[in-house]
Amino acid sequence: MSKLEVIVASTRPGRIGRTIGQWIETEAVAHGGFDEVELVDLAEVNLPFMNEPHHPRLGRYVHQHTRDWSVKVAEADGFVFVMPEYNSGYNAELKNAIDYLHAEWQYKPVGLVSYGGVSAGTRAAQMIKQVVTGLKMTPLPEAVAVPFVNGLIGDEGTLTPNDMMCASAKTMLDELVRVAAALRPLRRPGDDLAG
Ligand SMILES: Cc1cc2nc3c(=O)[nH]c(=O)nc-3n(C[C@H](O)[C@H](O)[C@H](O)COP(=O)(O)O)c2cc1C
Repeated sequence: MSKLEVIVASTRPGRIGRTIGQWIETEAVAHGGFDEVELVDLAEVNLPFMNEPHHPRLGRYVHQHTRDWSVKVAEADGFVFVMPEYNSGYNAELKNAIDYLHAEWQYKPVGLVSYGGVSAGTRAAQMIKQVVTGLKMTPLPEAVAVPFVNGLIGDEGTLTPNDMMCASAKTMLDELVRVAAALRPLRRPGDDLAG
C-alpha cells in the first residue's frame, strides 16, 4: 500500500487553499499512482503553536494533538503541500506543522503546489526547500505553480483549472510515485513512529 497525503497549508477563513487542495486530490486519485490519497487540512488538524517540551527527533511527545499528528504524517509515503504565498514566503501554519515532527517526514518526497499573484507562490516554494531538505525530505523540481489564482475562482468559489495546471500536476505526480518508491527502502520499520 502506498499513501499520498495532500496537506492544505492555509487555515484562514475564506481561504482558497482548500479548493486548490481538493483539485489536486482529485488529480491524484485519477492519476492512480498511489493506492490511497488523503486530503489533510491544517485548519482541521488545528495545532496550537509548537508547545512540545522535547526536541521532536526524540519522539517524546507529551500532547495528544502531537501524537495524532505524528500518526497521520507517519502513514504517508509522500506529500503534496498546497501552499499560499504570504509576504513573499510560505505561511506560518505550515512551518509550525512541520516543526512538530521529525522522523515522520524523513525519506519522503514532497510535491509543491503553490499559488498567488504574479509570482505564482514560487518564492514560498523556493523558501520551503531549505527547510524540508534539512528533514531529509526530497522536494521535487516538478511542481505546480498557479499565478493569478483568484482569476481561476468563480463566484461560487469553484476552481476552473487550466491546461498548464493539469499538465504540471501529472508530471509532478509521476515523479512523486517514482521518488516515493526509491526512498522507501531508506526508511526502517519504526523509524517514523513516535516513542
Ligand atoms: C497575509 C497575506 C499575504 C500575502 N502575500 C502575498 C505575496 O507575497 N505574494 C502573492 O502572490 N500573494 C500574496 N497574498 C495574496 C494571496 O496569494 C491570496 O490571498 C491567496 O488567496 C492566499 O491563499 P489562501 O486564500 O489559501 O489563504 C497574500 C495574502 C495574504 C492574506
